Amino acid sequence: MSLEPGELRSRLRALLGADGLLTEPADLAPYLTDHRRLYQGAALAVARPGSVEEVARVLALCNTHRVGVVPHGGNTGYCGGATPDESGRQLVLALSRLNRIRSVDADNDSLIAEAGCTLARVQAAAAAAERFFPLSLGSEGTCQLGGNLSTNAGGTNVLRYGMARNLTLGLEVVLADGRILEGLSVLRKDNTGYDVKSLFLGAEGTLGVITAASVKLFPMIRSRASAFIAVAGVRAASALLTRMRSASSDRVSSFELIPRSALELVLRHIPGSTDPLDRAYPWYVLCELTGSGEADGLDALLEQSLAAALTDGAILDAALARSGPQQDAFWGIRDSIPEAQRREGAGIKHDIALPVGKLADFMDLAVAWVATHVPEGRLVAYGHAGDGNLHFNISAVTPAAGAALLARTEAVRRAIHDLVRQFGGSFSAEHGIGRLKVGELERYTSPVELSLMQAMKRVLDPNHIMNPGKVLRQP
Ligand code: MLT
Ligand code: ZN
Repeated sequence: MSLEPGELRSRLRALLGADGLLTEPADLAPYLTDHRRLYQGAALAVARPGSVEEVARVLALCNTHRVGVVPHGGNTGYCGGATPDESGRQLVLALSRLNRIRSVDADNDSLIAEAGCTLARVQAAAAAAERFFPLSLGSEGTCQLGGNLSTNAGGTNVLRYGMARNLTLGLEVVLADGRILEGLSVLRKDNTGYDVKSLFLGAEGTLGVITAASVKLFPMIRSRASAFIAVAGVRAASALLTRMRSASSDRVSSFELIPRSALELVLRHIPGSTDPLDRAYPWYVLCELTGSGEADGLDALLEQSLAAALTDGAILDAALARSGPQQDAFWGIRDSIPEAQRREGAGIKHDIALPVGKLADFMDLAVAWVATHVPEGRLVAYGHAGDGNLHFNISAVTPAAGAALLARTEAVRRAIHDLVRQFGGSFSAEHGIGRLKVGELERYTSPVELSLMQAMKRVLDPNHIMNPGKVLRQP
């Protein structure tokens, strides 16, 4: 069944045209490594189909000849899910030419977009129709909708609107054998058997290729009130979340935890960043209330709630954004933490989720464990505290300590993830599995659940051509 690489390339070129296939090493290079540079792969070629039918023909050909296919969006993932392996026998399938907004239906609050649209483009298309698409991530200018859905991305609005899965009404998917699942429903209610689309959300391209999606829209956000709040610790932050949700009639849309260590990295590495407060505090929360009315009075509400919290000793200090640029500056700090941490040097990343009510108890133990067992590292644990999701990252204390820290990655990861497990948490909250966490999935997933995943893989991709070795180990 197998074809010579040269023969496969000429068949693909015949299907896609010369522009639809990249084979020159310089053209392939950007597709062969991941955003974090954890993996350096090789590939037969990069296919750039311009239509769903072309995707279908490419998959049918690859299925017949047992060629592994690695779907590739904006390449902003953290787990190597879009990078081919080192064999040079896999085909990268870039979705970037499938980039049309097919329709926007403001009355139905829905939008249909192709997988290669950047997230920012989907947000803008919704805004042009006076609607709001709430998925929001630091990489939204680059990441693509197909990748967002394939990894079930989270981001900073999950607290109010849910993850990518919750925002999806329907999918168009090309299956491994080239059949097209035409499931772009825009219905909110549709109880017709199994929820098949759900299988492809978060599957990271291992069961089929998402080529388009129908997603939910919401009333336009017309008022935003944001504050950068100093708190004593994670317990105080969790208590503040409960307090702010009830004080605002549940209009908290983002509640991001930022430790002093993260703010210092941003101040050191990101030009133009400034400390929003006059003095240093151990922890901060970036809290944002949003509403769909122009005159929701959110600024006054936030100010009054924080004044009361300060009087009660529930918070230590707060800066309120008085303008759009000030809000952008607060978000600039939050969104540039990953980049600041990258510039700082070596580090270990975790993407954990805990029940919100257990976050503080977990942190008590985890912070103490890092302090005792990881002298080469400094904890930079930040993230979506409102969702119970922290990026429990550890940066090397000095450049010289980087190698020693990285050499201990496995042991540190194991200890943190085991502790997360004891608290009923997840080792992968929003970044997925990719290639990086295949072993973790095997370790922490029950045998019954794992065997169901393997069974689904066998049914949908019996020849194991879809993103081989990602999520599940290649048999
Ligand atoms: C974030 O919330 O900034 C991202 O998920 C990335 C990260 O792990 O740093
Ligand atoms: Zn995150």
